[in-house]
Amino acid sequence: MTSTAQAPQPGARTAHPEHLGHVIFIAAAAAMGGFLFGYDSSVINGAVEAIRDRYDIGSAALAQVIAIALIGCAIGAATAGRIADRIGRIRCMQIAAVLFTISAVGSALPFALWDLAFWRIVGGFAIGMASVIGPAYIAEVAPPAYRGRLGSFQQAAIVVGIAISQLVNWGLLNAAGGDQRGKLMGLEAWQVMLGVMVVPAVLYGLLSFAIPESPRFLLSVGKHDRAREILAEVEGQEIDLDARVAEIQLAMKSEHKSTFKDLLGGSFFFKPIVWVGIGLSVFQQFVGINVAFYYSSTLWQSVGVDPTESFFYSFTTSIINIIGTVIAMIFVDRVGRKPLALIGSVGMAVGLALEAWAFSYHLVDGKLPSTQGWVALIAAHVFVLFFALSWGVVVWVFLGEMFPNKIRAAALGVAAAAQWIANWAITASFPSLADWNLSGTYVIYTVFAALSIPFVLKFVKETKGKSLEEMG
Ligand code: GLC
Repeated sequence: MTSTAQAPQPGARTAHPEHLGHVIFIAAAAAMGGFLFGYDSSVINGAVEAIRDRYDIGSAALAQVIAIALIGCAIGAATAGRIADRIGRIRCMQIAAVLFTISAVGSALPFALWDLAFWRIVGGFAIGMASVIGPAYIAEVAPPAYRGRLGSFQQAAIVVGIAISQLVNWGLLNAAGGDQRGKLMGLEAWQVMLGVMVVPAVLYGLLSFAIPESPRFLLSVGKHDRAREILAEVEGQEIDLDARVAEIQLAMKSEHKSTFKDLLGGSFFFKPIVWVGIGLSVFQQFVGINVAFYYSSTLWQSVGVDPTESFFYSFTTSIINIIGTVIAMIFVDRVGRKPLALIGSVGMAVGLALEAWAFSYHLVDGKLPSTQGWVALIAAHVFVLFFALSWGVVVWVFLGEMFPNKIRAAALGVAAAAQWIANWAITASFPSLADWNLSGTYVIYTVFAALSIPFVLKFVKETKGKSLEEMG
């Protein structure tokens, strides 16, 4: 989740090609956590209207049930590091896999609304854990020369997870005759949507048995022989194992364990750089990106699109999201993070403004007028494309790189928590805001996209091409 596209480290040795396949498998298996992160957080899109209907609740209560998972995410992300240091990275993945599995079963078969909310929090906790453990483990196991590229597997897995969840939702809705509460295998379609997550969750658990514990963790608990075996397995027999072990131990010793206290300073509580990180996280969420991934089916249905078609558009936006992410991965090291962020802000503001314009028209026979309907649809795709090729990737890259070494870990924790909380604020407020005025809601998101431009120009420093040590 940190840097997605770092340049190879200077002087890094290259893994023997025959080991590379194995290393790719290891990174891909760990990135299953990212897949579940994307899948689990956005699968809810297909269930929102059915939950509203089945439990006969208003927009405010509905929003709480949807958004509550994000509180679990924040707690999971905040505690995963400590759990992983105590019991190991692999055990941590296995705990997340078990939580993903039971939360899938629990949320598919809730006996009350609070029970559904409870299982979503449990799933959220697993998402939070996976959001931290996947990138951390990949960075520790990957041979230095491939760390940046293997690290980007996580972000790619998140967006693929989002897309697959929308595809599965669409397929299941079709199978249930276009009715989210239609029967499938004795359950309502939305329950099956939530339950299907058992499949990737169990796969994640099984794969975690097929990948090795991180050598760094093994060294930290004194298991030197096993650490050497794994280093030879992933980096090749021909490397100088003694030198490699000494190098890792030295790096571990010189690492500063930053605490919350290290972040304080200046006249505004936190040091200015911490505020910049929080600002990036908040702007990334306040443009309303996750409305597109958690509520798009509801959004389209509210302007007269029929359910099956609305599920299809949720899938097409998530494909656009994948395409944009690939574009960002190609360009983030070439054109730099700041220009990408600025291009993204302009594109997002235009897309969002057009959505606000289209939604300002009165519905005729429950539908937007044809021109406005098309504009809304195209603008939504433009918005997601520009988000994905900029802020989606760039913010995570910035957060991994921008902080001085001695506060990096703690600052990243605070900025990531700010992001889950900002995500919660948008997710929890959308249904009520949409009831108030859908067009007005999009005007608010447009304003945030526009404000992100002066924010980046004034406060954000380019990190492209600088070593992490140069950050202070
Ligand atoms: C980023 C955001 C996340 C969002 C995703 C969409 O990773 O942090 O909230 O769901 O992009 O692709």
